[in-house]
Amino acid sequence: MNNHLSDRINNMATSATLAMAAKARELRGQGKDIIGLSLGEPDFNIPDFIKDAAKKAIDENYSSYSPVDGYADLKQAISNKFKRDNNLEYGLNQIVVSTGAKQSLANIAMIMLNKGDEVVLPAPYWVSYSDIVKLAEGVPVEVPTSIDTDFKMTPEQLEAAITPKTKMMWFSSPCNPSGSVYSEEELKGLAEVLKKHPNIYVVSDEIYEHINFRGGHVSIAGIEGMYDRTITVNGVSKAFAMTGWRIGYIGAPEWIAKACTKFQGQNTSGANAIAQRATITALEAPVSKIQFMIDEFHKRRDLVLGLLGEIEGFNLNVPEGAFYVFPDISSFFGKTLNGTKINDASDFALYLLENANVATVTGAAFGNPNCIRISYAASEDELKEAISRIKAVL
Ligand SMILES: Cc1ncc(COP(=O)(O)O)c(C=O)c1O
Repeated sequence: MNNHLSDRINNMATSATLAMAAKARELRGQGKDIIGLSLGEPDFNIPDFIKDAAKKAIDENYSSYSPVDGYADLKQAISNKFKRDNNLEYGLNQIVVSTGAKQSLANIAMIMLNKGDEVVLPAPYWVSYSDIVKLAEGVPVEVPTSIDTDFKMTPEQLEAAITPKTKMMWFSSPCNPSGSVYSEEELKGLAEVLKKHPNIYVVSDEIYEHINFRGGHVSIAGIEGMYDRTITVNGVSKAFAMTGWRIGYIGAPEWIAKACTKFQGQNTSGANAIAQRATITALEAPVSKIQFMIDEFHKRRDLVLGLLGEIEGFNLNVPEGAFYVFPDISSFFGKTLNGTKINDASDFALYLLENANVATVTGAAFGNPNCIRISYAASEDELKEAISRIKAVL
């Protein structure tokens, strides 16, 4: 706490995933052989055909400010992608390109929320939702789910969380951190509840759309009655391993897109010009071009589940998407391991870092204090070594 700083920043939590990565870096600096399974980014290089498009954009002098809401031909490629992959019709005036999906989410919070407006967050949720909502003076309302329902919110839970102050519901499917994927039936169940509350808007974060092992991604905007009240968020960070290029986007009702553009225009302006040009090429490519990454994640998921399943005390579900497992490790709470008392998931993650030299993230950061998140965006050898070390120190 620093009295010279605003309450806004003093009240904000530091991103736990970034904090864990920083701690792992510090230990590496001390010469420790740390295996990092804490960060949420693919460990693949950007495919060459996308890199080539970026090089071409540099040579073609895409060096000026871009339109605040994105180049028109990029928005056309996004519109085509929404139609092709999600059967959603978004016109160019309904699309806004931003500096990563994180900025898309921050824009939405700033333009939709007034002080005290409640946002329902099925927990576990992506680490930044809660602080983005708070920054916009909204109130996150966490709905705890458990491994027994595959970490998915039921219609009854949603109904019970709604109050006269509820303005929005935010969720990701496939979910970071649980890997859960909502089926069409499950989304219809949530939509039935929302139909009774016409003033609630939905953020559907679909950034892991392609990393889905059950197949058949479903967008809630496509469910009857939901299109006019849903903001579909997506981006190229995960599907194309373009995390550092920072391109995200939304498809939304026109008045929401217009407000996001107005806000972004006074904030960061248009996203990086070169990355936008490369994103056109990425989105126009058939999904088959990135199938190798999806297949590799699928293989690793099975490997990790098999190996973790051999460790007593790990309670696992089967994640159907993204690249994380989210084991419930609460059976270790209250135990003392090699002289360290484990009170909660944060203690457990720290214990693994300091004793097994493996970086994971406490589930508390995602609104579930019984779990840890393990990213399997790492090589098979690293994953095998990490899990064997974890097993040894438990
Ligand atoms: C669920 C979810 N939404 C949004 C983001 C942000 O993505 P971007 O890199 O496009 O800002 C992430 C990144 O980890 C994520 O996991």
